[in-house]
Amino acid sequence: MANVLITGTSTGIGRETALHLARNGYTVFASMRTPDRNPELADTAAAENLPVTVLQQDVTDGDSNQAAVDRVVDNVGQIDVLINNAGLGAAAVTEEMAMSELRQLFETNFFGAVDLTKRVIPQMRERRGGAIVNVTSVAGRMSVSPQIAYSSSKVALDVVTEMWAQELERFGVRVAAIEPGIIVTPILEKFRSAGSGNEVCAALRAHDALLRGRHPCGHQAPRSWPGRSRTPSKLIVRSFDIVGVDAVGIMQMRNSMSDEEWVAFFTEEMPLEKWKQKAAALSGLPL
Ligand code: NAI
Repeated sequence: MANVLITGTSTGIGRETALHLARNGYTVFASMRTPDRNPELADTAAAENLPVTVLQQDVTDGDSNQAAVDRVVDNVGQIDVLINNAGLGAAAVTEEMAMSELRQLFETNFFGAVDLTKRVIPQMRERRGGAIVNVTSVAGRMSVSPQIAYSSSKVALDVVTEMWAQELERFGVRVAAIEPGIIVTPILEKFRSAGSGNEVCAALRAHDALLRGRHPCGHQAPRSWPGRSRTPSKLIVRSFDIVGVDAVGIMQMRNSMSDEEWVAFFTEEMPLEKWKQKAAALSGLPL
């Protein structure tokens, strides 16, 4: 069975996907920044006797990326599937987004994935086979304020995904983007904490309907949602080529509106319940 290297597996989609892959017979090399502080994946794998090797890897560090690639190759000879899953979220209005945070998000969500992939491509090209999966986001397909760093880094990753698909098709390497909607994972809390210290965010939140309970800037992370962390795991295994069910609904909602209507959707005065009803009607999601 194929050998998979997947990044960002301490929590969320990465951890679920690593387990799902291993339970389905893949040999999984699951990397994370701090294995010592995040033993859950290794513990579950050990309890179920799954073929999971946990590696230390920080995708923003080129040496760390090379070490992870070398480790897999030394162990099993080749990487058949690379899943660039590691990612950070942050919500802040542009004037309050620290450039250092913006850069950090790009370092992780975009440059990290590009650096690691560059180190994996040569062996796939020479072997004329393999698959690369980038976990981007439906936020890479549309603008959702205040996600300047997140949305733009995911747009960038979406664009290179398509480019790599063109570059590598002739070498038999399949490249795909997974663009989940909203999946309840720890990233939502991180979005919140990144945004909630923001003065403008706080002012906006207190001020008007823009932030009345539905804005990612310091809002409550949803406790339930149609998307769950297991959903993309299954899709990723199914050849890594489709978006989650809620992302389809969100895209449908976006595509049903003009640019002006999309902006107004986030800015016009409207009670939260009415806004939810409108969103549910346009997206087909049981909000
Ligand atoms: P998460 O916060 O549970 O997982 C993200 C993982 O990336 C964590 O394990 C984190 O430690 C790791 N990570 C962060 N910086 C890293 C670095 N420099 N090196 C290595 N690992 C690093 O969140 P979730 O939701 O599981 O996110 C996984 C991917 O799915 C991310 O790329 C995220 O942008 C994407 N996604 C998530 C959505 C959601 O609603 N949860 C929606 C769309 C996309």
